[in-house]
Amino acid sequence: MPQVLLTRELVPEAMRALEGRCELDLWERSPEAMPRDDLLRRAKDKDGLLTLLTEKVDAELLDAAGPRLKIVANHAVGFDNIDVPECTRRGVLVTNTPDVLTEATADLAWALVLASIRRVAEGDRFLRARTPWVWDPRMMLGHDLYGKTFGIVGCGRIGQAAARRATGFGMRIVYSDAVRLPAEAEQRLGAEYLSLDDLLAQSDVVSVHAPLTPETRHLFNAGTFRKMKHTAVLVNTARGPIVDEAALAEALHAGEIFAAGLDVYEREPQVEAALLDLDSVTLLPHLGSATVGTRVAMGLLAVENLFAGIAGERPRTPLNPEVLER
Ligand code: DGY
Repeated sequence: MPQVLLTRELVPEAMRALEGRCELDLWERSPEAMPRDDLLRRAKDKDGLLTLLTEKVDAELLDAAGPRLKIVANHAVGFDNIDVPECTRRGVLVTNTPDVLTEATADLAWALVLASIRRVAEGDRFLRARTPWVWDPRMMLGHDLYGKTFGIVGCGRIGQAAARRATGFGMRIVYSDAVRLPAEAEQRLGAEYLSLDDLLAQSDVVSVHAPLTPETRHLFNAGTFRKMKHTAVLVNTARGPIVDEAALAEALHAGEIFAAGLDVYEREPQVEAALLDLDSVTLLPHLGSATVGTRVAMGLLAVENLFAGIAGERPRTPLNPEVLER
């Protein structure tokens, strides 16, 4: 039987798909995160690791696992937690879970767009605090979406799904990315390519869908916020470190931008204290892919990838398929 380490319990459908097919070493204090020392100790002599975005897969962990390791199956589309070149060098396959979470994540980005620009969570908190009120023409005003500009930073699968939703809101769509989309895709989305500076200056909503890389770390910083409209909102459902949270808190406090919606955090699961005190930011605990259907699909895909890799076959969504060509 192959030896598999699972660092957090998955949805029941995915747990059933693991049953009887491997010797499963499941972190027993799940859903608590697995401490690094336990991860290093328990990775030893495993054929496969089924990891989450919370586990750092680097040379140290690969050393601890040893030469038997064939695959790291990540239960996430983002893979900034994994040193893929190091895995490739050692002949270890890496897989992620793209596509199955595209629509759910775009939906959640839009939940944050609406919550931020129309002060939804703030209104909810206001009533729960039993605040006395009466309807007032000046009360809790937000901004319109119709006819405004939706700016996408990182226009891959999820960015494009967010763009399709913007069409329904009657918005102009602009995007910025390291690589420009083919003309056909731009036409299909009705999206216009802009430099980041132009996008920041023109957008009423800026939604981040880029991967975390050295180039995108703190892409949103004090200087970036100054280039945005005072009425704009920033939404981040990608990765926390793309936004400098302390600078964001200052920009919101100073009224440089109107509001923000965050699903991901720079030092996740910690949230910058200055943000917790601001009404103009809506905060969610990394729920982008958190629907029943999506988590089942992610879990089943990660398990399918895991067993394909252990069997020496090509997984459905490999990040370094060249490992199999050796
Ligand atoms: C991912 O898949 O990368 C998300 O952040 C979690 O679903």
